[in-house]
Amino acid sequence: MSSAINELTYRDKKLIFSDTVPSGKIGWQSPSNIALVKYWGKMPVQVPRNPSLSFTLSKSNTKTRIEYTSASGRDMKVDFYLNDQPNPEFGLKTKAFFESISDIFPFIRQLDFKIYSENTFPHSAGIASSASGMSALALTLCDLERTHFGNLTEDADFYRKASYVARLGSGSACRSVYGGLVDWGKSKVLANSSDLYGIPVGDQVNEVFLTYQDTVLLVNAEQKKVSSRAGHSLMNNNPFAPERFQQAQRHIGELLEAMKAGDLETFIKITESEALTLHAMMMTSQPYYLLMKANTLQIIERIFAFRDETNIPVSFTLDAGPNVHLLYPFSEKEKVMQWIKSELREFLSPLGFIDDEVGKGPVKL
Ligand code: DP6
Repeated sequence: MSSAINELTYRDKKLIFSDTVPSGKIGWQSPSNIALVKYWGKMPVQVPRNPSLSFTLSKSNTKTRIEYTSASGRDMKVDFYLNDQPNPEFGLKTKAFFESISDIFPFIRQLDFKIYSENTFPHSAGIASSASGMSALALTLCDLERTHFGNLTEDADFYRKASYVARLGSGSACRSVYGGLVDWGKSKVLANSSDLYGIPVGDQVNEVFLTYQDTVLLVNAEQKKVSSRAGHSLMNNNPFAPERFQQAQRHIGELLEAMKAGDLETFIKITESEALTLHAMMMTSQPYYLLMKANTLQIIERIFAFRDETNIPVSFTLDAGPNVHLLYPFSEKEKVMQWIKSELREFLSPLGFIDDEVGKGPVKL
């Protein structure tokens, strides 16, 4: 690694084109992820108040292609197209993000950008696209560096920097650059863990979790009334926050133990507790707010009853929204699908559900 790089900031003044400024196209597809232990609460700059753990998904992806040419003027130019339609709002957001990371990639200021992005999940599904979108963008920028400066040739360096940069765009995005189970945030039980980037930990768990299913039940596709960004900042004054941050630390250790052992009972207890604690934090913030809908609770009640009756280890987790992620082993898929179609359909929005599962991580396009 070059001596001009400060390892903690990745600032590198040498990443400037000295002769001809190149043009080209680079693209990456990157998945969304679902947290099992939740990141909720942060410090500047995007440093989490507690470690989190997530499954990277397989089918919910963002594909991002960047076309870059030599800058035509002094002001940075970022034209953004979402599903082939110009999207000036995303263009402005991406420009602001690029400016904020231009000490990491100084060459950004020498280029004009056309960014083409599409999500493989319905835009209106109420599924957060920031994790897949920001990780795809970060991977593409690191690939631009690798292509033109010959750096980051080792995969470990490449993905670590991509994770670091993705984190600056959206915290949870730093977990999407790896497949399987991923930790982000310093934890006593994981020697290499860091608050600044994610690390893959999937090789430590029982094989049942390598093909774990996540069927996302779409309860309500409305835009959230309170953004995650605002929700994180409300943790600063939540009286229960200090205990919550400690609980997350404990949960990381306990959940990893259970996942190593293939202990589904403990897996269910911890992940469901995490989901409900996340929403309890919203309900105990000032101002307080609720993101669950009546049908979210209907579904949760049905899950408890179905598990009692059948002993099938199906459980739920929740994002910062009303949709329910149904988690279960692949071996139970047929029975769970039948049950969703016969008993849960009435609680779903017209978009129905997204049938996803643990995935292998991003791919270059
Ligand atoms: C509830 O990563 O979307 O999904 O860092 O402000 O972009 P920002 O927040 P974001 O928060 C995700 C919160 C969560 C839990 C999680 O994914 O760990």
